[in-house]
Parts: sequence; C-alpha cells; structure tokens
Amino acid sequence: MTIPNLTVCKHPLVLDKIARLRDRKTVSADFRRLAGEIAIMLGCEALSGVKTKPELVRTPIDTCESVRLAQELTFVTILRAGLGMTDGLMKLEPNARLAHIGIYRNEDTLEPVRYYARFPQTLADNFVLLADPMLATGGSAVEAVNILKSRDAKHMAFICIIASRAGAKRFHQAHPDVPVYAGAVDETLNENGYIVPGLGDAGDRMFGTV
Ligand code: PRP
Ligand code: URA
Repeated sequence: MTIPNLTVCKHPLVLDKIARLRDRKTVSADFRRLAGEIAIMLGCEALSGVKTKPELVRTPIDTCESVRLAQELTFVTILRAGLGMTDGLMKLEPNARLAHIGIYRNEDTLEPVRYYARFPQTLADNFVLLADPMLATGGSAVEAVNILKSRDAKHMAFICIIASRAGAKRFHQAHPDVPVYAGAVDETLNENGYIVPGLGDAGDRMFGTV
C-alpha cells in the first residue's frame, strides 16, 4: 500500500550509490562519500518545495525575469549518522544554516533519547530540511520533527537513505504534513529494530566504530 507524502527515489545514480552503500565490503571513507552524494540528490528533490519569488536580473546583455529563493534554508542533521549527509547538503546550498539534533536509540526499548539540540534563533519562516540516513522504527525522526515544531518550524521535509515501511508509516501518522524523500524502502525490521536488508548500523559504518 502506498504511504502518502512519501517519495521514493528512482534515479539510477541514487540506486547505484545505495547498492554500494549496502555492500558490507564498502569501507568507511567510501561510505561517507556515498552518503554525502546521495544527500545531494535527495536534498535537491526535497528542496523543490522551497518558496520562490520573481526577480529581474540584469545580465551583461539584457534583463531577465528570474526566480530567486524566498526562504532561508536550514539543514538539520540527526547525530551522529546524519553528519555524513551534511557535507553533501552544504554543497547543494552553502548559504544554508546548519542545525543539529543529537538522538540515539535506547538499545532495549528502541525509544529515542535526545541528548543535544542546537538551532538558529528562529525557524519560523525557514524551509527546514531534516536528514538522517535511516528511518527504522521511526522514533528518532518523529522525535526530531517534534523538536523542530516546538521551535516553530512550519515548512519542512525529511530525507533518508533507507526507510523501513513501518517507520515510514509511523512517521506519516505522526507528521502527515512533512514530506519524506527516501532513497529506498525496505520491507522488514528485525527484532533489534534494524532494517532488513538495510545497510547495518549507519553510524558505525560511517565512522568506523563497528
Ligand atoms: C540510527 C539512525 C537514526 C536511528 C533510526 O541512529 O541514524 O537516527 O538509528 O532508528 P529509529 O528510526 O528506530 O529511531 P543511532 O540511534 O544508531 O545513533 P548513532 O547515529 O549515534 O549511531
Ligand atoms: N539504525 C541504523 O543505523 N540502522 C538500522 O538498520 C536501524 C537503525
């Protein structure tokens, strides 16, 4: 069954990069680079909802009716694995502001535990793009959006590299107003809350702490 407000990327470059990311033989340096590259492509699509305004630009030859961004962008990454997507997002728009939310999953309950949050003064008029490679049970992403909404964020999108179907459903139930852009959707979550086949523990693979 389709999940509303969920876009699953079909771009061959993204699919190829995800295949390499899933591969157990991929080393941390390549894992980080691939995650950054995928973030650029998913981020690009997710940012298609940014508000724009017309502007008349003077070229060396003539004037041109052009389009400029009408909103500030804030990129929010969920620590720690989301850090691997920061580099790609900043390449997409270097003037965006960066915010961080630290959340880890309690290994027994799988519930999210918040340990850090640092934001620009206001998010109210911003387009807020949240990034985390994995949407597993959905607890971390739901909690991150709760935090962002409590900071007045109203216009948001969430990108993840791999979502579980259950996590995507839970996210949509909690935040139907926030579109999700996923690189892939896997059908299964195991008893430890890991996505199957997934790619393993994204943070550990990214930072070599396996
Ligand atoms: C991973 C991942 C997400 C979370 C997803 O982080 O980066 O934040 O799990 O799981 P959920 O959808 O079930 O909440 P983890 O808790 O392993 O922390 P880490 O990034 O610090 O390794
Ligand atoms: N976090 C990960 O890094 N991987 C999973 O499969 C689930 C949660």
